[in-house]
Amino acid sequence: MIRVLSVVGTRPNFIKIGALHHAFSAHPALLPRLIHTGQHYDARMSEVFFDQLELPQPDQYLGVGSGSHAAQTAATMVALEKVFLDEKPDLVVVVGDVNSTLAGALVAAKLHLPMVHVEAGLRSFDRRMPEEINRLVTDALADVLYVTEQSGLDNLKREGVADEKVCFVGNVMIDSLVRFREKAAALKTAGGFGLAPKAYVLMTMHRPANVDDPVNLARLVEIVHTITARVPVIFPVHPRTRNRLAAEGHLDALDALSGLHLIEPIGYLEFLSLMADAGLLVTDSGGIQEETTFLKVPCVTLRDSTERPVTITLGTNEMLPLDVDPITDAVQRAFAGQWKQGQTPPLWDGHAATRIADDIVDRFGA
Ligand code: UD1
Ligand code: UDP
Repeated sequence: MIRVLSVVGTRPNFIKIGALHHAFSAHPALLPRLIHTGQHYDARMSEVFFDQLELPQPDQYLGVGSGSHAAQTAATMVALEKVFLDEKPDLVVVVGDVNSTLAGALVAAKLHLPMVHVEAGLRSFDRRMPEEINRLVTDALADVLYVTEQSGLDNLKREGVADEKVCFVGNVMIDSLVRFREKAAALKTAGGFGLAPKAYVLMTMHRPANVDDPVNLARLVEIVHTITARVPVIFPVHPRTRNRLAAEGHLDALDALSGLHLIEPIGYLEFLSLMADAGLLVTDSGGIQEETTFLKVPCVTLRDSTERPVTITLGTNEMLPLDVDPITDAVQRAFAGQWKQGQTPPLWDGHAATRIADDIVDRFGA
């Protein structure tokens, strides 16, 4: 049996590992272990995903919590080093681009443990994004790089990564979506807000570039007002964003805004239900760009770069600046049915995690 130890810490990690853990458990040659760093710890940012994705409790919970980048990454590394020495895995799996990913990659490499990166090769080419640093370092250290889209293959080739280390498998986040799509649809979550399908905008925002900068945050608030004046908005607010809205004195006015449902972060199934029925997503999330492309729901990404260009070239994503006018125009086009239809990117078919499990056994089984 190959002892495969997966490291997770944040909301998008749970959704990705959901698919991987099920595929690892189903493979007779793999013995999966699950370590939760505790980077995200609120029940709405963590526990609900374990329940809804039918994941077992993690084998170890490290409770590292929040902090500056150095403090959080360092605390995670110290805790993971003990775990890796104790668990003696044959292989470490890290997913995505968060600080828990980076910490897992560094500790595995220093302990000479084989390490694979799921969702490798994505690049925004913006090193002011903490995720870009995490992606670059993790990919430099990984023994196998599992890729979701063509740009990832191109980026790794350009960076000189040997072809035999790179494996194009598709998208494990879409595996989870495919698995839970029907269950989510049955919830009809929009109805609970008194909203009909395709009659609202669903919004999420949490990038430091958008919400930590007071000027950009004020622009975002203006954008929320502008959209809400035209169409109802549901906005599950990430804890980083709620803290920033409160600190800058925006929260009370938004809470009072008619037509805006400013709510706590919601569970995966409820979010999937809202996303599938939305007329338009307005977001800065990485994963939501991919999910809307798969669902063929219009998506506006309020950023100036994306590490997931296939969602624009093939999918339903459009990148816009933090300006009222282009977003007003996008809302108009989306609700007039004038949005591109998009196509499903290659291998986004619900089977990426099984491909990864099979490849791990092929490579590390001997
Ligand atoms: C992290 C990831 C980001 C990812 C996002 C997914 C890094 C560098 N960033 O950003 O790439 O897109 O997760 O959601 O790893 N907080 C709570 N409760 C929680 C978690 C966080 O209140 O359960 C608050 C704390 O005030 C914390 C802040 O949110 O300081 C930011 O949390 P952190 O994990 O540092 O970064 P995210 O913005 O969540
Ligand atoms: N999501 C969720 N509830 C919410 C907001 C998002 O379940 O209130 C899901 C969403 O469907 C996607 C993932 O969380 O699968 C994206 O996480 P996030 O935007 O926090 O991180 P990113 O993808 O930007 O790293």
